[in-house]
Amino acid sequence: MTEIFVINGVNLGSLGRRRPDVYGTLTLYDIEKLLSDEFPEVTFEHKQTDHEGGMVGFIREAAESAGIIINPGAWTHYSYALHDALESVDVPKVEVHLSNVHAREDWRRFSVVSPAVDAIVTGMGAFGYVAAAAYVLSQGEDL
Ligand code: DQA
Repeated sequence: MTEIFVINGVNLGSLGRRRPDVYGTLTLYDIEKLLSDEFPEVTFEHKQTDHEGGMVGFIREAAESAGIIINPGAWTHYSYALHDALESVDVPKVEVHLSNVHAREDWRRFSVVSPAVDAIVTGMGAFGYVAAAAYVLSQGEDL
């Protein structure tokens, strides 16, 4: 069975209630359901934490999986620890942001984790996770 890790970081546990104007009304649970409805053949390991060290642990846990979909939340913009953890794991990795980080505050435009991932999806809302999963599954295929 193909296994993909979906790792959401700080403050993403409150999706649905937090700034719905920016992040939409779907909860993390809704996104889990969306992914399993869209890709019934895939096992998704869903993780969320507000603790940076825990996030590093989840990235390491994903080392043998088919790929990582990661939304580090605000850590995106300053966590070298997450950059280094991602860099050390050799699987397809996609950084996802629900909002378009380039259309917001200046400090959100810079990601320290981007150099350690293969692809970035930003501003597609919950659909970004679906696009990221499709990308991970496409790896190894001749597209
Ligand atoms: C986010 C964008 C980040 O700048 C922010 O800190 C988040 C969510 C997004 O999904 O759009 O927590 O990663």
